Amino acid sequence: MFSVKVEWDFSTEQESLIIGLVEKPVKFEGYLAELDQLLDGHLTQLVKSGDISAKKKAISKVHTFGKIGPKRLFFVGLGKENGFDFETLKEAFGKVFQTIQDQKLQETTVLLDSFKSDLFEENDVAHALSESFALSTYRFKGYKQSSNEPEKKIEQLTVLGGMDQTEIEAALTVGYTYGKATNSARELVNLPGNMLTATDLANYAKSLGEKYDFEVEILEKEDMEKLGMGALLAVNQGSVEPPKMIVLKYQGKENWEDVIALVGKGITFDTGGYSLKPKDGIVGMKTDMGGAAAVLGAMEVIGELKPEQNVVMVIPSTDNMVSGNAFKPDDVITSMSGKTIEVLNTDAEGRLALADAVTYAKHHGANYIVDVATLTGGVIVALGNDTTGALTNHEELFEQVLESAVEAGEQMWRLPIFEKDKERVRGSKIADLNNSPGRDGHAIMGAAFIGEFAEDTPWVHLDIAGTATAKKDSDLGPSGATGVMTRTLALFVERFEPIK
Ligand code: BES
Ligand code: MN
Ligand code: ZN
Repeated sequence: MFSVKVEWDFSTEQESLIIGLVEKPVKFEGYLAELDQLLDGHLTQLVKSGDISAKKKAISKVHTFGKIGPKRLFFVGLGKENGFDFETLKEAFGKVFQTIQDQKLQETTVLLDSFKSDLFEENDVAHALSESFALSTYRFKGYKQSSNEPEKKIEQLTVLGGMDQTEIEAALTVGYTYGKATNSARELVNLPGNMLTATDLANYAKSLGEKYDFEVEILEKEDMEKLGMGALLAVNQGSVEPPKMIVLKYQGKENWEDVIALVGKGITFDTGGYSLKPKDGIVGMKTDMGGAAAVLGAMEVIGELKPEQNVVMVIPSTDNMVSGNAFKPDDVITSMSGKTIEVLNTDAEGRLALADAVTYAKHHGANYIVDVATLTGGVIVALGNDTTGALTNHEELFEQVLESAVEAGEQMWRLPIFEKDKERVRGSKIADLNNSPGRDGHAIMGAAFIGEFAEDTPWVHLDIAGTATAKKDSDLGPSGATGVMTRTLALFVERFEPIK
């Protein structure tokens, strides 16, 4: 897929060449001057006339009419010198790759040097480039009869320049791994509920485990009954599909210590149960396993890059259905932890499934827990569709997660859990907890409930109800599943420093 070349001249034949261009008085230097000369000064003229634009993220295409090796030049506007942040760089790459792919061109070359600046080094540019390449060109194939016709995708990407070829290659591979794993998460989330049951999700995890030599454990319904996982079982009660508790273990340290648990909500379809969702609110609920997809995506990166960390991934999976067997509002259930729960709303099912998953993660020795879930509509009201909500019982662990999110370019903002919030989830008259203490502060209530099961273990909860899907196409991918938090979690694991 990738090749890296250090030396190159403009006579080598190429379908297309991508060049970054900063806004400054038109006076070309270096390779741009060389190109301009080979093209009889036309580039200078085109910049002057505005046909080639250096404005932020502007894409300008120029044909070279056989005068030089590359048939087409794609200029990517970088705006004012150093007026570019890393996210915009990724978006700019995404935009040009989409343009090239839309034109059905199948190979391209990037002049790496032209994207360097005081702000990013070669390696950063290489990472951004390959990650964006994977992200921006992702498409969900779908089920149209016409979708079986072969697609024209970019198949060969050459990167030119760079001081250290092996370093560039390594950065390209890492970026591509992050992008590809995000796409795997997107793919799972985009699958309809009838195409991805808890059993399918378990099989996917198993194949990932085999590929990367993870320890795989899939708990069946009978196992859950023996372990007393009454919360996950209650959610599954109305379903004809068997539930699965999916566990993958990766040991990158000599001893099983400093164990990070990645826990992902794996509700393959959420009808709301007897607290049935309205007909408009039910559409889209195939995406209620976005948390599971994110932790699986992160495991893919972990399997590829093999960091020196210990990780246990836990996914509680089922759909949430109605039937004569289904659990009901007013039911009281007993979770694996022994805590009893009064069910006031069967649509607050995610926190029930996660309660047993968090307890089970601790059984596997989790010292730190990060859970990811499409948990509440409330987080969308609070933070919108571009920002993941984070809640925690531990400042330092949260800081590490936040730093990774910033670096991965995934927006995250914290919401509080105060004692008064905890009192509300503990407010049942007849059980230890209630799963839905009323309309106000849904996102906080959901998190506070899960926090009761994390107890003293450092824990961060990420509510991705708003960010797991996008309404519109963007430079880094189509509308639909975003694969959000795959990269943040993978980076968090890679960089993690045990807390004393
Ligand atoms: N899966 C939903 C949350 C959700 C909403 C995800 C919109 C994606 C988009 C969750 O299980 C749910 O139903 N939450 C309820 C909680 C309430 C009943 C306490 C909600 O947010 O309304
Ligand atoms: Mn629900
Ligand atoms: Zn749900």
